[in-house]
Amino acid sequence: MARIPVQFRLNGDDRAEFIESGTTLFHALRDTMGDMSPKGGCHQGSCGACSVIIDGELRLSCLTLAETCEGAEIETTAGLGQDGVLHPVQRAILDGFATQCGFCTPGMVMAAKALLDRTPNPSREDVVEAISGNICRCTGYEPIIAAVLAAARSNSQNAG
Ligand code: FES
Ligand code: FES
Repeated sequence: MARIPVQFRLNGDDRAEFIESGTTLFHALRDTMGDMSPKGGCHQGSCGACSVIIDGELRLSCLTLAETCEGAEIETTAGLGQDGVLHPVQRAILDGFATQCGFCTPGMVMAAKALLDRTPNPSREDVVEAISGNICRCTGYEPIIAAVLAAARSNSQNAG
């Protein structure tokens, strides 16, 4: 299969790689670019574990071809947090004991970040809708919802 060049920004870094045409972004990130933070659950768009943010939109990396991301700005959980300080969503999930096995957590964090980026003060219903595409096999949804709302509150307190 033909190898083609693809360039995009990954968590603020310019990346250029050759990938096989037809490679999903999920596999390009993990197998070629060494970013293991997106998790693979269903590989068919049903679980949300592989969620990343592309140009500000929450997307499923298992259903996205890497070659369609040319020039895009891609965010994954590996790029959240700065200088050893967790992103507020990560902090709130940790403080709120909102993870069980943790497999769904990276996808949940990206869904929550995408929500808070566009809706800094979400309602509970907003949070439920935002993570509705993310399946937690441990069914620990309530602590996750509470953590996202706590992250929003801490963001608005810091902003105020
Ligand atoms: S691995 Fe992508 S949605 Fe499940
Ligand atoms: S914490 Fe286990 S899948 Fe969500």
